[in-house]
Amino acid sequence: MSEHDFYFNPFDPEFRANPYPHFPPLLEGPPRQLNLFMPTTLIARYADVVTVLRDHERFTVRRPEIPFRERIDPFAGAPTILTADPPVHGRLRRLVSKAFTPRRVRELEPRIREITEELLNRAAGNCREFEAMGMLANALPVVVIAELLGVSAADHGQFKQWSNDLVSSFGQDMATGPSPAGLAAKDALRRYLSEVIVQRRANPADDLISALVAASDDAEVLSEDELLAFVVLLLLAGNETTTNLIGNGLLALCRHPDEQQRLRETRELIPAAIEEMLRLDPPVQMTVRMPTSTTTVGGTEIPAGTLAFVLLAAANRDPAQFARPERFDVARKPNEHVSFGEGIHFCLGAPLARLEGAIAIESMLEKFPQLQLAKPEAKLEYRGSMALRGLSKLLLSVR
Ligand code: HEM
Repeated sequence: MSEHDFYFNPFDPEFRANPYPHFPPLLEGPPRQLNLFMPTTLIARYADVVTVLRDHERFTVRRPEIPFRERIDPFAGAPTILTADPPVHGRLRRLVSKAFTPRRVRELEPRIREITEELLNRAAGNCREFEAMGMLANALPVVVIAELLGVSAADHGQFKQWSNDLVSSFGQDMATGPSPAGLAAKDALRRYLSEVIVQRRANPADDLISALVAASDDAEVLSEDELLAFVVLLLLAGNETTTNLIGNGLLALCRHPDEQQRLRETRELIPAAIEEMLRLDPPVQMTVRMPTSTTTVGGTEIPAGTLAFVLLAAANRDPAQFARPERFDVARKPNEHVSFGEGIHFCLGAPLARLEGAIAIESMLEKFPQLQLAKPEAKLEYRGSMALRGLSKLLLSVR
């Protein structure tokens, strides 16, 4: 039994398989403290989460120094928008926003539909079962991000493998040291992308890497290291997260057949349903901040140099913010979840993730007359990452 009145351990596979029953005790009181691999404060209540994420002066996104940081950092020490504070953050975000525009995302819609269709058409015409992660959710985001960046289609499989190896070693590495697969993937991916950058500098194309190269050559310079780090970040940030939105979302529809039916009858609800999927079972469960000096949040003192775990998934179920938070309601309104973060680091890829999620879910509803778990009693298997929540497999019965 734990010495605390709560249980929180993202390194425990049982905890990761279903963290939700552990959140209500955390939501009932002030931020709690425990020693994971270092002293950690758990920020769970919605108001506390929003306070921490909005206050980038009191809380830095820099990570604590750990001995093997150099070796595991996929960005090789270069600042990225995700890991830089102002003023560096503002410079990087302005620059990449010039290349990663809402127009560029909107223009992708027909292509995302086409890729989804191609993936779904690989399923036999009258199949009864469909493994949604392998057939759709794993492939769609990586193909989209690879095409957006301008990576050749022949390399998509390799790309996905590097991304998986890197993401699954994240976080875990902080506690246990670097994994050989993660290290190899980091080096191979960086080598590959550096070559693409060199090629695009010589021969620009209509893709995001070329646009970033052009932006970096403008007045507000993006250094070579920063450019490479950003491309690596885009691949990692945009990949498994969106895969998990599709997987977790389909699972929610299977577990709530009435809501699935409601969505089938009223397709205009799809955007709202995507927000509800993001709220109830977020692909990114938590993020991390460090106080710049000893400070207090919600009545708890957080010492300088310790970690604050910002539990997005817990905040999304705070009854002080959401009526009947455990309920899955595809028409929930308002739905101010924090699954894309909050404040200056709010997810840059949110419009793309929402678009991909909506197209994937809509296409699944159109293609299959029913979506049910093929083996409702079987235990679902989750992937290994500590902060990301996503299924390894999702076998659906579809007719
Ligand atoms: C459902 C899918 C996604 C989820 C749940 C998600 C979630 C998040 C969260 C929570 C943050 C903030 C992290 C923090 O404050 O510490 C973030 C930041 C970010 N995301 Fe996403 N993301 C998703 C998809 C994407 C996609 C598709 C892309 C790009 C193609 C992307 C690119 C980024 C970038 C670049 C940042 C850093 C922004 C900054 O620091 O200013 N994300 N995302």
